[in-house]
Amino acid sequence: MRIGLLGFGVVGRGLYELTQTRSDMQVVKVVCLEDVTLPDAQVTRNFQDILEDDSIDTVVEAMGGLHPAYEFVRAAMEAGKHIVTSNKALVASFYDELIPLAQEKGLMFRCTAAVGGGIGWLSEVERSRRAQTITRVGGIMNGTCNYILDSMTRLGLTYADALSQAQALGYAEANPSTDVEGIDTWHKVILSSNIAFGISLNTDTVPVAGISRIGAEDVARFTEKGYVCKLISTGKRTEDGFSVYVQPTLVKAGEPESAVPSNYNLITLVGNTSDRMSFFGQGAGRYPTAYNVLQDCIDLLSGKGFYSPYGEKVSAVNSGKLRYYVRGCADGSLADVAAESWEGAIITAPVSVEAMHLWLKEHPEAFIAAIAE
Ligand code: HSE
Repeated sequence: MRIGLLGFGVVGRGLYELTQTRSDMQVVKVVCLEDVTLPDAQVTRNFQDILEDDSIDTVVEAMGGLHPAYEFVRAAMEAGKHIVTSNKALVASFYDELIPLAQEKGLMFRCTAAVGGGIGWLSEVERSRRAQTITRVGGIMNGTCNYILDSMTRLGLTYADALSQAQALGYAEANPSTDVEGIDTWHKVILSSNIAFGISLNTDTVPVAGISRIGAEDVARFTEKGYVCKLISTGKRTEDGFSVYVQPTLVKAGEPESAVPSNYNLITLVGNTSDRMSFFGQGAGRYPTAYNVLQDCIDLLSGKGFYSPYGEKVSAVNSGKLRYYVRGCADGSLADVAAESWEGAIITAPVSVEAMHLWLKEHPEAFIAAIAE
């Protein structure tokens, strides 16, 4: 395998290092905007150098972001090159174009590192769906949010201090609002659901609420009541369709998610045969993420392309009802559904996920957290 590598940051450099001792693959060219010299690979600022090199059969995209990653990946596919990417935003956003294009052109396309970093998550979803019906996917998919919530809960840090630490440790995306507003998790659960259920979700129908408005007073209340707040993604089959959403969630102390420390991920799959399987590990970082990029390259060598066939376009149906903790509903608009009062916040009677997220759009200053079923 002769690899053209796009990006030489955290993940790209990690992959380059991991390929050094292998005889079955070689990084031959690297697109990088910084001055880097490598003993055995040409470093260029010009993507055309990879695109026009017929000896390169595989492009590994480790740039992140949508543009120009999308244009480069698409052009590489048009030129007949196989793709490995760790870019969840790219694959979730352009699923409808990239996956059919790969299938039409007979190209291999894999993106295991896009969800769960170094965890063998998407590759196990792929194996799992061969043998059973997957009924549910989701969990803790963002290390930055988990680090912030864990630091606030266990160490009493403020939100701002915990976010600064997560940034200093390199967990956060270039724009941390992608993490704390739940967008990174949103990309990951959309991609996981598409692969697990063999569908293509209409992304506009998947609601997301993040953690940026959580305060120390919320965390203190949760602790007092025996709950831990986590940013949880859900993708599940229901009688009405596929229900997919991302939201802060109050988990009972003692549940596995409540104990996930620091920046770790805990992602769960439920199947009609296996029942629950959970995957715990490093959802980010150079070597964990590069490990799964390398695994995808090895899969390509054995002819393994995308995880599941491209499926029908569906809208999420989020009519299932949950109880919610809501702080910041002073205008009385939730009076009809308020079931309990928690000093400055309310607990609602069960309301649909869809209705709660619509309410939140009208009240962006509020903080909501679902109470786990
Ligand atoms: N910013 C992401 C996280 C990196 O914190 O999990 C991995 O996708």
